Amino acid sequence: MDQIKIFAPATVANVSCGFDVLGFALDTIGDEMHIRKSDKKGITITKIVGEDLPYDAKKNVVGAAGYALLDALNSDAGFEIDIYKKIKPGSGIGSSAASAAGTVFAINKLLGNPFNNTELVRFAMEGERLACGSAIADNVSAALFGGFTLVRSYAPLDIIKINTPNQLYATVIHPQIEIKTADARRVLKDTVPLKDAIKQWGNVGGLISGLYTEDYGLISRSLHDYVAEPFRSVLIPGFDLVKQKSIEAGALGCGISGSGPSIFALSKGLENAQKVADAMKEVYKNIGIDFYVYVSKINTEGVKIIS
Ligand code: HSE
Repeated sequence: MDQIKIFAPATVANVSCGFDVLGFALDTIGDEMHIRKSDKKGITITKIVGEDLPYDAKKNVVGAAGYALLDALNSDAGFEIDIYKKIKPGSGIGSSAASAAGTVFAINKLLGNPFNNTELVRFAMEGERLACGSAIADNVSAALFGGFTLVRSYAPLDIIKINTPNQLYATVIHPQIEIKTADARRVLKDTVPLKDAIKQWGNVGGLISGLYTEDYGLISRSLHDYVAEPFRSVLIPGFDLVKQKSIEAGALGCGISGSGPSIFALSKGLENAQKVADAMKEVYKNIGIDFYVYVSKINTEGVKIIS
């Protein structure tokens, strides 16, 4: 195999209660990447369609992630990469993670699969380090493993793939404003009061249990965030109203997608997820901010080969 075309999914990180440790992958939005073996050593970005991003591989998350993998093998292999960006940087649905995860997945395949998924997450995290200054694993884990993922530990890296209930659908609204992850991390506090930590870890346990037992009521009761949302929601115009209207429309829960500005909701069944999308749209139409809306089944496969 000398070349590969892949789909790298958008992802929702944190899932309300799991700051930096929980994530899930979407089906209906993601980037496409074409990767070819090349005689020229290292990583050469040959095409970027859809966004204005650096061609210099050392300045692009694609290079940061790809070179982390090649360096681990002491490899002098060469690859050319065409990137068809569909996920806007600064959207909160894992734009840099899709590029980083797609790159390491494809190079690993073309080299005959020397690494497992957890090792690929470690390389893809270098893309996140370049993008926002922190080597976060939640988006890249969801992109590489698919479904819901838990970063049980960062050191040593321990990623757990969680069951995805069949009737679970996501609605994501992306208001057309940009929030840089680095900025959204700066508004957080270094410490969490014990009373909030108690509520937060109760909800993490509840959500994981609800996902395994497919208990939609328990999932709903667990989708709360006392760590990031109180500080970040003020950065997103209309957030409180979107959340209120989504719950009224039948969502199990609603919160900030990753570091925002996208807002996600989870619903039981496609019909409910579409009603939630209509409710979210109405809020931003009234505020006068442009948006994109995605309704998606949870993508349980992660990065996949399209040809
Ligand atoms: N967990 C990260 C954050 C995700 O919330 O900052 C960034 O998309």
